Amino acid sequence: MIILGIETSCDETAAAVVGDDRCIHSNVILTQLNEHRPYGGVVPEIAARAHLDYLDNVIRKALATSGKELESLDGIAVTGGPGLIGGVTVGVMTAKAISAVHNLPFIAVNHLEGHALTARLTNDIHFPYLLLLVSGGHCQLLIVEDVGKYILLGTTIDDAIGEAFDKTAKLLGLGYPGGPALEAAARRGDPNRFKLPRPLFARPGCDFSFSGLKTAVRNTVHKFPDQRLSTIEAADLAASFQSAVGDVLTDRCNNALDAFIKIYSIDRPQLVVAGGVAANFYIRSCLEKLCYQREVQMIAPPPKLCTDNAAMIAWAGLENLRRGGSSNLNFAPRPRWPLDEL
Ligand code: KG4
Ligand code: ZN
Repeated sequence: MIILGIETSCDETAAAVVGDDRCIHSNVILTQLNEHRPYGGVVPEIAARAHLDYLDNVIRKALATSGKELESLDGIAVTGGPGLIGGVTVGVMTAKAISAVHNLPFIAVNHLEGHALTARLTNDIHFPYLLLLVSGGHCQLLIVEDVGKYILLGTTIDDAIGEAFDKTAKLLGLGYPGGPALEAAARRGDPNRFKLPRPLFARPGCDFSFSGLKTAVRNTVHKFPDQRLSTIEAADLAASFQSAVGDVLTDRCNNALDAFIKIYSIDRPQLVVAGGVAANFYIRSCLEKLCYQREVQMIAPPPKLCTDNAAMIAWAGLENLRRGGSSNLNFAPRPRWPLDEL
């Protein structure tokens, strides 16, 4: 089975061809960083227009690189939500058109399910597993019971984690995109220089909170004359922020592992980390440490498959299609689409 995947839910225009033998035949990602940089964040209208301009060529390139013709495919998978609705609509309409013309199954994929199932594309893992989903719009702990079967253990009660990284980076003048810029700055910084809160740390449950941490960073910045930090001060604050986030994620995952073991009586569950923030090597190392201590296997896809891409959409489409889960052509793009609603 070979599927074409299309991803247009945020600021990456992407297309990929993936097989059920877990071979990624092509994985084309065109980022719109230059379009959004002047605004310091993603502008939905600009994103939608850029997807419209670029998507045809990105699909053409993905097919050419894979050496596959549309006629030889088994289906077209596309992000159907959640995401910026203009971009999602561009992807969905394109996929529907290709599906109708070439008489191929159309699969509307939940973008979060794309992140959630990536580890099954890159690693040999089986259901059920524990998932820490850390992306631009989400921060959740879930049990992945099967394709389309998710149990929510905890979620952020305020900001998403990627948003916290991006806003903190902006506050520190580290540039755009914020997450990778903050990680790079933190590498040169002292994580013990600034004392920052660790919201919900050591409390029961698996929920997250980041707004207090963001405010604490802002208050720290405001204490500097003219709110101007030297490069080394910004690096120290970035490292202190990242260290607080690492502690919180470790603590919450520890509770989630307890919950998972209680439900399934599995001695050695697998913890999968997915979503854009899972590309962060410091965060990965914190979770690796926890998993080592608890004798649990941790799986994080390669960074390029953690941030938005279409290979994960093709794979999730494939996993749905082989269970008979194609979509109707009257599918309406969804700006909101929680995983546990699947
Ligand atoms: O999964 P993703 O590509 O898009 C969404 O579905 O949201 O995640 C994007 C988020 C952004 O907030 C970005 O700053 C963050 O992931 N991110 C990172 C890193 N790379 C991307 N955050 C921290 N460290 C990184 N290296
Ligand atoms: Zn994403």
